Amino acid sequence: MENLAEAFLRLDRKEIALLKAIERGMRRSEWVPIEDLLAKGRLSLKGTRTGLSKLVSKKLVFKTTEPYEGYQIGFAAYDLIALSELVARGVVVSLGDLLGVGKESVVFEALGRAPARGGAGSKEDPSEEDGREKNLPGGRGVAGSTEDLGELIPLAVKFHRQGTTSFKHVRRARSHLLDGPRCAWIHAARIGAAREYKVLKALYPAVSVPEPVALSFHALVMEHMGGAELYKLDLENPKECLEIVLEEIAAAWRGGFVHADLSPYNVLVGEDGEIVIIDWPQAVSRTDPRSVDLLGRDVKNVIDHFERKYRLDVEPQEAIASIIAEDEN
Ligand SMILES: Nc1ncnc2c1ncn2[C@@H]1O[C@H](COP(=O)(O)OP(=O)(O)OP(=O)(O)O)[C@@H](O)[C@H]1O
Ligand SMILES: [Mg+2]
Repeated sequence: MENLAEAFLRLDRKEIALLKAIERGMRRSEWVPIEDLLAKGRLSLKGTRTGLSKLVSKKLVFKTTEPYEGYQIGFAAYDLIALSELVARGVVVSLGDLLGVGKESVVFEALGRAPARGGAGSKEDPSEEDGREKNLPGGRGVAGSTEDLGELIPLAVKFHRQGTTSFKHVRRARSHLLDGPRCAWIHAARIGAAREYKVLKALYPAVSVPEPVALSFHALVMEHMGGAELYKLDLENPKECLEIVLEEIAAAWRGGFVHADLSPYNVLVGEDGEIVIIDWPQAVSRTDPRSVDLLGRDVKNVIDHFERKYRLDVEPQEAIASIIAEDEN
């Protein structure tokens, strides 16, 4: 599979419309019957068939003939659907390099704009809507709009990938059943992105997290942060850095959340020592009965790193107690 931006440039409007029609159909059935695509699409029979076979040869769409002729998309096509949506809304104007591949996401750098509040582009997740393809900009490519709407800002676009493994599991376990959850991976990835967006919205700017910019299907657009992951660095001032990270954990606790997957991989440190905590889809509300345990685990993960790498001696229990006590005062 070619890279995402190139794949996007090679898609025409009809192909995007077909991908969206298949995605919508996959909310009901794992393999979308050809009849549904013909009945609901605005393309002719010939146009639909040509479009589908092009998409199959690009490996964006998969075809089955048993027990009926049906089609489904994979993550590559789902990424393209979300990207086309973001381009149509003018949020993403150009897509850059891959920033990271995590266990449950791929993250790209991009240039774009925050959607105008209250304007047409401000809808947070318009992916439930139909017929948006008519809003696609006339121009092709990742350049969505040539209008000068102010300066472009550096963004990070995180395409969620939750549920990939459980998808296989669900398919295996349920392939003989007619009912049951369809396309668990689409659902899981969407839920993951929506959760992370909600948590960032709740915490920004009180906690040092990337500013959330937009949500589309399973893609979360946020501010692009400089710096490198904590695990990669040899810090000159580890003690100060640890104190700042603990202070951010405390700020999130005050804001009602525990990160719940905190490690040196999810802390970015900038050149001037500024700290940003990323990767929040699994964050847990303070009202969750597991929240105190998860807070303890996060604090311990961070302190362990500083102990191993810099021989700092900080007692996790004291740090945890002080985060909780500080907020109760
Ligand atoms: N806002 C951002 N600005 C700059 N880089 C980012 C941003 N968000 C993510 N990244 C980069 O992408 C990588 C993966 O992001 P993130 O940790 O959110 O995803 P993940 O798939 O959940 O990772 P994990 O493997 O920890 O589960 C990060 O390690 C970081 O390098
Ligand atoms: Mg991560």
